[in-house]
Amino acid sequence: MAEFGQAFTSQMVVSSFENDQWSTADVKPIGPFSFHPATHVLHYSSTCFEGLKAYRWVDGSIHLFRHHDNISRLRASAASLCLPVPPAELIEEAIINAVKAVTDEIPDLPGALYIRPTLIGTELNIGAAGRGSKNALLYVITSPVGDYFSGGVRPLKLLIDDENMRSTPKFGQVKTGGNYAASLGSVTSARAEYQADQVLFCPGGQVQETGAANFMILRGNDLITKKLDGSILPGITRNSILKLGADMGYQVHEIDFTVDELLNWLPDSEAFLSGTAAVLSPVGSVVYQGVGHTVGNGEVGERSMQLKQALTSIQHGKQEDRWHWTS
Ligand code: COI
Repeated sequence: MAEFGQAFTSQMVVSSFENDQWSTADVKPIGPFSFHPATHVLHYSSTCFEGLKAYRWVDGSIHLFRHHDNISRLRASAASLCLPVPPAELIEEAIINAVKAVTDEIPDLPGALYIRPTLIGTELNIGAAGRGSKNALLYVITSPVGDYFSGGVRPLKLLIDDENMRSTPKFGQVKTGGNYAASLGSVTSARAEYQADQVLFCPGGQVQETGAANFMILRGNDLITKKLDGSILPGITRNSILKLGADMGYQVHEIDFTVDELLNWLPDSEAFLSGTAAVLSPVGSVVYQGVGHTVGNGEVGERSMQLKQALTSIQHGKQEDRWHWTS
């Protein structure tokens, strides 16, 4: 299978907002768009997106996971960017049409169809005149995917960056391209200098999240992650893991914590990333100020994998879904 996010299915869905009206969510062969150079998004990054997955269960049926939550988050992101907010029903229709159009291209488990609804500002306007783009394009592309990190399940290495911010204090919760672009420089140098897989952003020594996923610690009976305060993405996988963790008897702590506290916890902890793309990806070590620190025994944590199993067995239709997350 191609690297995550580099293969695409044959069809997409497109709906445009012009003259205060959304067009129908139509399926089209995937292909280039043509934009006037003054298009709003090309100047002011008026864009937000979502990431969710559809799974082909062993009986052949296709299921989405918590797509209503992705729809709500896309609408919240659109509002934050002063973009026209697509009705929830339209986004749902676009997602379902996009999946139905490519059912033959959905990989078998453990693979999935990654769904990328995207909204961009399309008004021809470089004035930045105290309002957002009047026009918009909503499109949904899909991509057959396997593991997000190359090499399958393995202990990842994170670089702790306490200088750069992934986003601003209140904009980190918005799923907008700029937040990801802002993290790329740090991630690129972390890879080159330390062979790190990701960067854990900890501005001012406060632990936040990585460029592509939320961050969690399992320590004794405690499941610890940063609280939602606007600075990090309110991850849907994050929320699912916290609910499953509580159900499995862990004490859930959504709190602020520092790099110093984290380093103290690491020797007797497990750590992992959570996200739609990352699912639950174990962390084996961190590098801080040039010094490496092992998480637990440095291997893939057994209890983290139990949590992952609890999540994926619902996503894959192998366990009763008493949360009604799959549809
Ligand atoms: C996701 O997990 O869906 C994301 O949007 C992260 C992205 C960097 C692939």
